[in-house]
Amino acid sequence: SRVHKIASMPGDGIGIEVTGSAIAVLNACAELCGDFRLDFKELPYGTAYYKETGAYFPPDGLDEVRQFDAVLFGAVGMPDVPDSISLWGLLLAMRGPLQQYANVRPVKCLKNILPAVRTVAPKDIDWVLVRENSEGEYAGQGGRSHRGFDWEVATELAIFTRHGARRIIRYAFEIAQSRPRKLLTVVSKSNAQRYGMVLWDEVAEEVSKEFPDVKWDKMLVDAMTVRMVHKPHTLDTIVGSNLHMDILSDLAAALAASIGIAPSANIDPTRKSPSMFEPVHGSAFDIMGKGVANPFGAVWSAAMMLEFLGEKKAGDMLMESMEKCCEEGKTTEDLGGKMNTKQVTEALIENLKI
Ligand code: NAD
Ligand code: IPM
Ligand code: MN
Repeated sequence: SRVHKIASMPGDGIGIEVTGSAIAVLNACAELCGDFRLDFKELPYGTAYYKETGAYFPPDGLDEVRQFDAVLFGAVGMPDVPDSISLWGLLLAMRGPLQQYANVRPVKCLKNILPAVRTVAPKDIDWVLVRENSEGEYAGQGGRSHRGFDWEVATELAIFTRHGARRIIRYAFEIAQSRPRKLLTVVSKSNAQRYGMVLWDEVAEEVSKEFPDVKWDKMLVDAMTVRMVHKPHTLDTIVGSNLHMDILSDLAAALAASIGIAPSANIDPTRKSPSMFEPVHGSAFDIMGKGVANPFGAVWSAAMMLEFLGEKKAGDMLMESMEKCCEEGKTTEDLGGKMNTKQVTEALIENLKI
């Protein structure tokens, strides 16, 4: 049978809880299917590892990760370490260097989700958010001088390259083209950000010529928030910069249901590096350790991983199992249910059907 080598990196907080859940569901799914196996290795990177070794990620961590077919990531960040240290130490130390330049975040209402927990009607929301994931506002360049003085200066440099804009916009056009509506919205902020975002707009014009069958439009990011809330049915595939889409993807998750179900895939479309699958949410200081986190975001990310590995049928099984749990009310509190993570995990395994 087919074997896929997966690095699991639970990280911190509820990342550990939801990754454990996703792995249990994945293993049950593989067993039921019988024609593939997932060979997991847990990599211990996160805040505990940092406190022990002084680093979030070992110097040869990228080479280690490159030996796997995919990475299943939880979340990183703890209250007693500055977020800028933990996130740049681990998560952002992988996305850019592994050139996972496309962060794909599908958004739709899972079937049977309670009307009370969503903001838009299910028929109006079926989006794919495509986030530039390797440069832009997350280039990591900048600095501070005269620290603590009144005349302190801090810079945070955003870097937009033609190459970077072209490859992500092209990738988004390809996704839009593969979907029934063939509709793409390019988000920018070229009224205020007059260099990088103007380049981005120009590149969109250029790349669009390669896709004459895709209808596309441009939208400023501020107006986009309003369109997402008031005219969700006019949107399908959406592409934008690293920071803009970070913000829009949390908004989208809340419109469809809860940040607890939102999935993401950090993809290297060239397949030179393994891609990394992770829920959109973080380590959730307010609920970590309580065992009540919603595992759906991690499980949906795992379904994306299965599809990426060529196991689409198995991925669909995970999606259908979540929908069955919604139908039965076997969900966590954020989805209107009363169950904890362990109970939902058991229900997810129970509801797996070939
Ligand atoms: P968060 O996503 O961790 O939490 C925001 C809110 O959503 C909290 O009230 C939380 O309880 C709730 N929530 C999130 N996931 C949930 C789930 N699965 N089930 C139920 N409720 C859920 O965002 P934050 O509070 O801004 O960040 C906390 C920490 O996580 C910070 O250190 C931040 O930097 C980090 N973070 C990490 C990642 C990542 O590793 N990918 C992503 C976002 C934030
Ligand atoms: C996300 C997260 C990360 C991001 C943070 C934790 C660095 O919010 O994956 O959406 O901004 O990319
Ligand atoms: Mn985010």
